[in-house]
Order: sequence, then C-alpha cells, then structure tokens
Amino acid sequence: MSIKVTEQGRNFYLETLNTMYQLKADEYGVVKHIWYGAKTGCDMEYLFDFPDVGFSGNIYDAGNTKEYSLDTLPLEYSCGGIGDYRLSAAAVTHADGSNALDLRFEGYEIKKGKYSIYGMPAVYADEDEAETLEIRLKDTASDIYVILKYGVLESKDIITRSAVFVNEGQKPVKITKAFSLCLDIPQGDWEWVHFHGRHTMERTVERRPLIHGIQESSSDRGTSSHQQNPTVILCSKDCTETSGECIGAALVYSGSFQTKIELTQLNQIRLIAGINCDGFGWELKAKEEFYTPEVILSYSCVGFEKLSHNFHNVIKNNICRGKYKLAERPVLINNWEATYFDFDSERIESIAREASRLGVDMFVLDDGWFGKRDSDTSGLGDWFVNENKLKGGLNQLVEKVKSYGMSFGIWLEPEMVSEDSELYRKHPDWAIKIPNRKPMRGRYQLVLDITRKDVRDYLFEVISGVLKSADITYVKWDMNRSISDWYSAKLPAENMGEIRHRYVLGLYELLDRLTSAFPNVLFEGCSGGGGRFDAGILYYCPQIWCSDDTDAYERTKIQYGTSFFYPVSTIGSHVSTVPNHQTGRKTPIETRAITAMSGSFGYELDLNTLNNEEKAAVTEQIKRFKEYGPLIHNGKYYRLSNPLADNYAIWSFVSEDCSEALVHGMIFHTEPNMLRYSVKLRGLAPEKEYVIDGGEKVYTGRALMEGGILLPKSWGDFFPVEIHLKEYRAVK
Ligand code: GLA
Repeated sequence: MSIKVTEQGRNFYLETLNTMYQLKADEYGVVKHIWYGAKTGCDMEYLFDFPDVGFSGNIYDAGNTKEYSLDTLPLEYSCGGIGDYRLSAAAVTHADGSNALDLRFEGYEIKKGKYSIYGMPAVYADEDEAETLEIRLKDTASDIYVILKYGVLESKDIITRSAVFVNEGQKPVKITKAFSLCLDIPQGDWEWVHFHGRHTMERTVERRPLIHGIQESSSDRGTSSHQQNPTVILCSKDCTETSGECIGAALVYSGSFQTKIELTQLNQIRLIAGINCDGFGWELKAKEEFYTPEVILSYSCVGFEKLSHNFHNVIKNNICRGKYKLAERPVLINNWEATYFDFDSERIESIAREASRLGVDMFVLDDGWFGKRDSDTSGLGDWFVNENKLKGGLNQLVEKVKSYGMSFGIWLEPEMVSEDSELYRKHPDWAIKIPNRKPMRGRYQLVLDITRKDVRDYLFEVISGVLKSADITYVKWDMNRSISDWYSAKLPAENMGEIRHRYVLGLYELLDRLTSAFPNVLFEGCSGGGGRFDAGILYYCPQIWCSDDTDAYERTKIQYGTSFFYPVSTIGSHVSTVPNHQTGRKTPIETRAITAMSGSFGYELDLNTLNNEEKAAVTEQIKRFKEYGPLIHNGKYYRLSNPLADNYAIWSFVSEDCSEALVHGMIFHTEPNMLRYSVKLRGLAPEKEYVIDGGEKVYTGRALMEGGILLPKSWGDFFPVEIHLKEYRAVK
C-alpha cells in the first residue's frame, strides 16, 4: 500500500520506494502540505512554525489565534481572495461577481490503479503498479468542489497530480485560473533550473538562485514552445548530478502554460504549474466538470541523475504508448535538408536508392510533396499529391521506395493553412483570426481552428485518405508557428477565454483518433524541431524531432538539456551535411553520427554527395547503431560532463545489469601538447571487471568510476569519442 491514512482519515502519506509526500486536513478543514522529500517514516509536521506575521491575516474560524494564517502556512492547493497573498492555484468568478474560493476538506477516496484524465494525456499504469488518492474539497460558500487527484507509482518514485473542478450548484461560474500543481516547500535554500531557448536552440539549461518575489517560465504561444519547456527543477544549492536534493515537475500539456515560483516573505517556496491563466476563462455550467492537465513529480536526494532516471522511466513506460513505445525505431533518411522544396520523383528516388544501399531502413518525404508547395508561401491544407513533382502519384513513389527494401514515411502539418491554398479559398473561416483585424502570419501561414469539430472531422478524413493511399508507416506531424489572434466563430463571445485550451483539447482528440485508427504508423511530433517537445505529445507520438539545429556541436547542448526529463528514445536526431545549414560549422561525420545516435537515429542529407570513404562510414555507423541501439534506448543514461561549461561533451549508457556500457561524445577543441582528459564513469558495478573493445587491460568498475577513463587523444575540433566496455567475465 503506497497510500497510508491516519488520524481518522485526515493525515495522508504517499510513499514511494525512496520518497514521501504528506498532506493533512486540520481542524478547520484546511489541507496543509506537510512534506515532499525523503521517506522518513515520520509525521513531518513537527517542522512547522507558526509565527504571528503582521499583515498576514487570520481565518475567522481560528478566533483570536493570530498565528494561524493562510498567508504563511504551507498549503496543498491555495486559492485566491481569502487572505493567502502568495501565488494562488485557482480562481473562480461566481454568479454574484465575487471571486473567492475557500476550499475545505470534505473527504477522500483511495482507488487501485492510476486515474486517467478525460480528453487529455496522462500517466497510465497497471492496476497493481499504482494507487490513486482523491481529496475532495468544497468551497465554504458555494457548491464548487475541487477534487485533488494524486497518482502514486511506488516503484518508480513518481507522484502525479491534477485537479477536477465540479459545479454542483445551479448557476454557471467562470474558472479564471486552474493550475494543476501547487507545491509548498517550507524550508531550505533552493535554486531553480529551467530550460529556455529559441528556434534551433531549445532547452538550454539555466540554473539560478531564487529571488524574493516571483520567477516564471511560461509560454503564451499556444504551444509548449521553443522558448521555455514545461518542465522545472527545484534543487538545493549544493545539488549536483550525484548529490543533493531536487524536485522535478513535468507538465503533461502541449499548449500555453505557466510555471511560477515564489520565494515568500518567510523564505518559503511555492511552485505552481498548469494552464497559462492569462486570457483564460472557462465557463463551468451547473453539474459540469473541468479537468486540469497532469503534472508528474519526482524527488531525488542524490542529485539530478536519479531524478532524470525516474522521469526517463515513467515517460518511456507510462506516457509513451503503442507499437513503437519500446521497439527499436527504423533508421531513416529525411530529404528536408537535402532538397528543401526543390525535388521531383527522380531526385527522391535517387536519395532513397543510395540510402537503402548504405543500410538505411526508411525514407521520409518531408515538406513540399503536396498541393502548390514550392516554397513556404503556399499549399498548406491541400493534402493531395503534387503530380508535377511526384509523377505517377504517391503510391507509385512509395512502391518504388519499397522495392529498394525500405519503408516509407511522410511529413504533414495538419493544423495549418496557407492563404494561397484551395482549402483556404473554400473555408477562409476555418483559420484562426479576429474579424476586422489583419491576422499575424507566421512563416506566411495561418492556424486552423481545431477547436471546431467540423475542422477536426475534415482533417481526420483527409489525413486518413493520405495514409490509406499508400503503404505509409511513419508520419512526421509538424506545427510551424506560434498562435495569435485567438478567436473562434463557434465560441460565444463571453467564452472566448476557452479557446487556447480548447485548441489543445482539439489537437489531442485528433491525435487520438488518428493514432488509434493507424496503430501501425509511427507518429513523430515536431514543431520547427522541438517547439512542442513535451510529455503531452509523447503520449501520442513516442518520438519528437528534437531541433531544427542539426549541427553536432550545438546539438550536444540541446540534447543535454533535453535529457533532464526526456528519455533518449523520444529524441529524434539526424546526421546532416557540412558545412552545417544552421551554423556553417564543419564537424567530422563520425562526430555527427555519435551525436545523432543519442536518439531516434537517422540521416538528413543526400548520401550521393558523400565520397566513398564517407559512404562506407555511414554503413558502418548504421551497423553500430543496430548493435548498440538496445543499450542506447534501454540502458540508463548518464551525463558525464556539462557541455555548456566543459571542453567536451561526454555521456554514457549502461545496461540494466551493468555488464555493458557505451561512452559517447566529443572533445570540442584540441590544444597542442594537451594531456588526455579523464572522465569518471558512473552506474557501473564497482566489483565487476570490464574491458574496452579492442583492449586487453582489465579495469574494475570502481577504478573506472573513482579514477575514470582516459578519453582518446584528440586531433582537430569536435573529435569523436566512442568507448564500448563489456564485463570481462562476459568477454572471456
Ligand atoms: C520544420 C521542421 C523541419 C522541416 C520543415 C519543413 O521546420 O522542423 O524538419 O520538416 O519544417 O517545412
């Protein structure tokens, strides 16, 4: 039993293998947050201090007790308007115009298994893998109920949270704020880590001390965005990869979100995360329910590495779904950087033919195959083949590619429409724009109003048609702009505040229908690379194109940041040409391959342009990837350097039984007469003995972890590193 209840059903312990989360309903029915941290086996409320703080008022029920203030107590889900002046998790405007929400404990329920969230992605688990706690709260002066849901995945050290709003009254109310998570940390000296960036430079790690007041990492772009990822870590000041405390939170949501952290007047911390409430307003009619997205939480007292392993484990096994969830993915070749819009069947066939000859499994036809699409100014929405380019049609091309022994994948950008398209000429009202205003265009395109069922039905039909028209086994689902000009003709004016969230719900519904209808198709998410790289998308697409930056050096930083929450199997990564199209940088082909192997591996160039030596290298790389693939995707991932600070990027994969390890990476710059770097490995068995491929020396795991391993002598810049170790006993 991972959920324990004491004190006549008012004190709750959520226990996992190494962690404990405690909450308690007090004598006033206020639910206090007591603890999230190490599993102590003890009621942690003894740590509470109740000072009388001036200008922090007191609830009526507490009489003359000036020490009892909602403004200073650690609370489980604190709402606005009732005297807690810190960040609040929820707000509702009642029929009389007031907006206080005073939620008090009404009861609880414990259920076997993990709750799901209607219409939204969430962690799923077997009946005996998880337990659910539901805490029922009621507003003191209305019939608004909030049910706090907790999923406990004991063996994975994971706790999930979400909230359900229920209107049991007679009149509608408007929810103006509904965060998924409110987490108070009453003690400690903490910092925060967030993942910021831009197009072609996503998820750059930034670690900062907390300042008094509010710090925020959010998106209002309609997508989770390149600029901020919906993941955050709070960590102790001394936290490293392998020591110190940290709490990670990953929002399972693909739209506009907010993560806010407040360092309060008493140096306490409050973290809230959920749907971005700027411009948000949701009408909750009588007897209706509103579901917030899920937040996945994990705690580690041994640094970031363990935290990442917990998130990799839960995202890979309990978020990703379908046939490809744990399967080795095909090595693919994508024609985007090889041709951009400029191709015809012959060019495509020649790229595919050579790729197949060198060992690639799948050809992916990127943007430009449909409608009038010779540049990014037109054609989106017209999902029928452009026979001027692909003579004989899609099926003929697919069959040709299959005759080379390869499978076939295709690029789609279903949520978009170009003004210069047949679809837009027929349905101009299907695009999101405000009447009498000129809409903002992003990459010349407009966004389809997928809050509308008729638009979604159309897209389902047209995409199904494409997928049925030929033997297509992979879809790259792109989304290439931030959304603005929010307006839908189908929503009443007073409910326009629902549109951003309804867009995300519409996207999930469409993805759900299509992935269910085509279970054998591997869907890859994409938004100009990693502009929608989140756990919500991973529920439908087990991999996401990590970044439009394919430069191997920059990729080490992007993939480093991505690795804090997301497993390697979810990261789409390709070898491209040099000079690189985003940076002009030249890196050796071996370095590019090693970087791309830390993901769902592929190529994105015309392999015909390589010389024979490079072609032989490609064949050999694919062979190696097939050999190491299971270790890369199923092993544990270790960040052995910080590429933002060190002169090398080194990471490793270690098999579950510690009998095998693969050290990958690159040395950035070579200096004359430099000593070889040594890097300490992690995750090996200290007592086991290991040998390096091609070597004879036997090392103990302890030596490799305490003393380290010597990196090869480098030559030139971006020198590749690959060291494969096996347990000596297994080699003998
Ligand atoms: C986005 C994707 C690229 C490519 C182009 C095509 O930028 O991230 O990989 O598919 O669109 O227009």
